[in-house]
Amino acid sequence: MRNLQFLIICAFILFVFGIDFDPNRAKTQSVLINNIDGLKIKETLKTITAYPHVAGTPQNARVADTIANLWKRAGLEDVHFKEYEALLSYSDNDRPNHVSIIDKATGKTFFKTIGMSPVIIPYEQSTPRANIQWLAYSGDGTAIGEPVYANYGREEDFEKLKEIGISVKDKIVVIRYGRCYRGNKVKLAQKYGAKAVILYSDPAEVAQHGTHPSNTYPNSEWMPSGGVQRGSLKVSSGGDILTPLVPAIKDGYPTLTIEEAYEKQIIPRIPVIPLSYGDAYHILSRLSGNETVDYDAQGGFNFTYRYGPGFNDSNSVIKVEVNSKLETKTIRNIVGYIKGAVEPDQYVILGNHYDAWVYGSIDPGSGTAVLAEVARAFVKTMQQTNWRPARTIMFCAWDAEEHGLIGSTEFVEEFEKQLSERAVVYLNVDNIKSNGSFSAETIPSMFAQVVETAKVIRNPVEDEIRAGRTTVYDTWFKTFSTKFTPCHPDYPEMAIPAASSDMAGFLNYIGIPVINFTYRNASWTQYPLYHSLYETIFAQEHIFDTNDFAIHRSIGQFWAELARSYADKTVIPLNVTIFADQLKYNYLAELRGVVYDLALKHSELVDSANQLKILSDLSDRLLNRSRIIDNQVQNDISVAKWYSNRVFKVERCFINPNMSPEQPQNRHLLYSISDKNNYAAATMSHVYDVVSEIENATDVNTRKDGPGQLGVKLARAIALVQYGVNCVINQFDDVI
Ligand SMILES: *[C@@H]1O[C@H](CO)[C@@H](O)[C@H](O)[C@H]1NC(C)=O
Ligand SMILES: *[C@@H]1O[C@H](CO)[C@@H](O)[C@H](O)[C@H]1NC(C)=O
Ligand SMILES: *[C@@H]1O[C@H](CO)[C@@H](O)[C@H](O)[C@H]1NC(C)=O
Ligand SMILES: *[C@@H]1O[C@H](CO)[C@@H](O)[C@H](O)[C@H]1NC(C)=O
Ligand SMILES: *[C@@H]1O[C@H](CO)[C@@H](O)[C@H](O)[C@H]1NC(C)=O
Ligand SMILES: *[C@@H]1O[C@H](CO)[C@@H](O)[C@H](O)[C@H]1NC(C)=O
Ligand SMILES: *[C@@H]1O[C@H](CO)[C@@H](O)[C@H](O)[C@H]1NC(C)=O
Ligand SMILES: *[C@@H]1O[C@H](CO)[C@@H](O)[C@H](O)[C@H]1NC(C)=O
Ligand SMILES: *[C@@H]1O[C@H](CO)[C@@H](O)[C@H](O)[C@H]1NC(C)=O
Repeated sequence: MRNLQFLIICAFILFVFGIDFDPNRAKTQSVLINNIDGLKIKETLKTITAYPHVAGTPQNARVADTIANLWKRAGLEDVHFKEYEALLSYSDNDRPNHVSIIDKATGKTFFKTIGMSPVIIPYEQSTPRANIQWLAYSGDGTAIGEPVYANYGREEDFEKLKEIGISVKDKIVVIRYGRCYRGNKVKLAQKYGAKAVILYSDPAEVAQHGTHPSNTYPNSEWMPSGGVQRGSLKVSSGGDILTPLVPAIKDGYPTLTIEEAYEKQIIPRIPVIPLSYGDAYHILSRLSGNETVDYDAQGGFNFTYRYGPGFNDSNSVIKVEVNSKLETKTIRNIVGYIKGAVEPDQYVILGNHYDAWVYGSIDPGSGTAVLAEVARAFVKTMQQTNWRPARTIMFCAWDAEEHGLIGSTEFVEEFEKQLSERAVVYLNVDNIKSNGSFSAETIPSMFAQVVETAKVIRNPVEDEIRAGRTTVYDTWFKTFSTKFTPCHPDYPEMAIPAASSDMAGFLNYIGIPVINFTYRNASWTQYPLYHSLYETIFAQEHIFDTNDFAIHRSIGQFWAELARSYADKTVIPLNVTIFADQLKYNYLAELRGVVYDLALKHSELVDSANQLKILSDLSDRLLNRSRIIDNQVQNDISVAKWYSNRVFKVERCFINPNMSPEQPQNRHLLYSISDKNNYAAATMSHVYDVVSEIENATDVNTRKDGPGQLGVKLARAIALVQYGVNCVINQFDDVI
């Protein structure tokens, strides 16, 4: 009898508290996935890429109106704009930027770039001045000097030049794109005394099958000889330049002046210009000085690279002319909702930016068009099935991402407290680059759901299906399998999200679980046509998504189904055990290797070693605790309920405003943005920074325990992580 009662109770619990709120999950899921239509994505992409639309321009305002109308027509609720006043940067359309080779004495010009890329597909690329070549936040003005080649412009490249006796002081530094964020290259060049910088796309990066026109766009996805990469030079993850840490709302008051922004090197004072490889050839092939062959600085041109300084004809110098201006403009984010039926105050957020350097068919149009389709498919599914998600789904289209994550960062700064209370996850797609494989950056607590979702999305590549890889997951695992998650060898690589797109503020400033995903080539994290004039819909239609936009459709299906899972599973699918595994077997294992090693050599590090032992024991406790909770969640409805309501705030435990005084926007103790390369992320960089200070310190006394000294500094940095883990454990205690 008691057994029977128990069974009935269990059956009842399962019914009212199943895996999903939706009793018809399988049906809803398949209707939703099937509602995503590749041809609708293509139609939207065509509309939003008809004109160049840089942030702050009337053309971009028109794109914003188009998106808002699409969302309203689809049936999203409360569609509205959120406006900010941001300091943006523009080129001068009437005075293009140029690089010339001139005679030092007479000023006579031997060679001069046109400053505009050639139009290749006239019916898509002919808007006057769409083709102008420029970089946002470049200094304004003209510089004349001798060229020096600095390879990728990383710290090690400048150190190499120093080592072989070449100074870049008052020189014009020629740097190839690649390996790190362009803003970091320019900041370093300025620090080493450069007068101006030329950033160019080397054939080694963008024309790997050769520079002959038959091998490049429009015959392939490789960059043609006149193409340049545009982009921003702002260095900071703080959104608007003049309002770090506060929202740039209309009647606010700026925290910085423009002069202070220059002083802090957030933007460069020197002129900077982008060049195509067609133009760069004329400069690099004429350099004098030592060959670079010994130093791994040879690119893809057919001559031997030299460092300079200067030209083989010593009468020649370079002249860089840049016309660049700063302007405060109104930017507009667009927000829309599907309100949740059960937990309306828990938000599953989908986001993408809509501003572009030129037409932006890949970056960001591909993501923008897919997001509009996801919105349409959700509402259509609701109409067809009478289903409504349990939690609220929020749609965001960000403005001014290209100038430096401005729209999303200002939003996060304005709504920090509300988002901290309500946001469950933030799902970002910036762009779809290629047809190779799905690829994702995310945090460990999301791994399981991301993998599960990838397993239910059909493979968009027919050849892959014929090879037996029928799902998105199959190709993903084949392409990016690594021993990335020691406890889950079936998980493909999922790196930590960096500051390369709008998820940065959500994760690094407020501790919201995020994912950033795309389709890309195995060998390329970027794509050759990146930020060029040639990002028009031709690239998708005729080069990399030629099968009725199957890749775009697939990203839409994944996005919608992932959002549905977070919005509709009774227990929010964020897994603390998988996080605890990763903390113990990956992050802390690595740190122990480094710190215990150092401690063996230096007895002053005894406090640090002790503190790390305490942190490690605490991570064991967390793992033990979360495994016990996993069991209870499955068997006890009351545990499942409180777990779900608390688990999405676990990540907030790692937000600590005291972590990085130099980068106050970077507040996540575990996941940080490298200040040498804003495109890269690392674990516990505030700890590793102290480790490397210790490794560098030659004076034993600076390492000694004692206030302000390095041993103490390291112990304190480790303890900060410990407080974060302690907070996670507290999150699951019934009383505090
Ligand atoms: C150029 O190379 C020569 C021969 O290797 C060397 O002696 C000289 O110091 C180098 N000059 C510079 C500026 O590196
Ligand atoms: C300089 O280099 C260019 C390109 O390699 C070559 O055509 C030219 O003859 C060289 N000039 C001198 C003075 O060596
Ligand atoms: C080297 O490259 C340039 C520019 O692409 C081309 O004009 C030239 O013919 C090439 N030379 C050789 C020897 O391949
Ligand atoms: C994340 O977004 C950035 C910005 O476009 C992109 O370059 C990067 O490839 C993305 N990474 C993944 C794995 O989606
Ligand atoms: C993308 O991958 C395909 C197939 O592996 C390859 O042929 C192509 O060259 C790659 N493209 C880029 C830009 O890496
Ligand atoms: C996939 O992209 C490659 C270039 O990387 C292209 O050659 C191929 O045709 C594309 N496949 C489809 C179906 O579009
Ligand atoms: C896990 O926690 C439980 C309850 O607190 C405790 O009894 C057990 O010894 C712990 N197990 C380990 C391996 O630490
Ligand atoms: C978390 O993942 C582990 C390992 O895959 C699994 O056993 C556990 O049930 C999951 N926990 C929750 C709450 O889903
Ligand atoms: C340690 O020294 C290396 C090599 O000289 C340097 O690149 C690094 O910035 C130094 N780190 C610190 C924290 O001083």
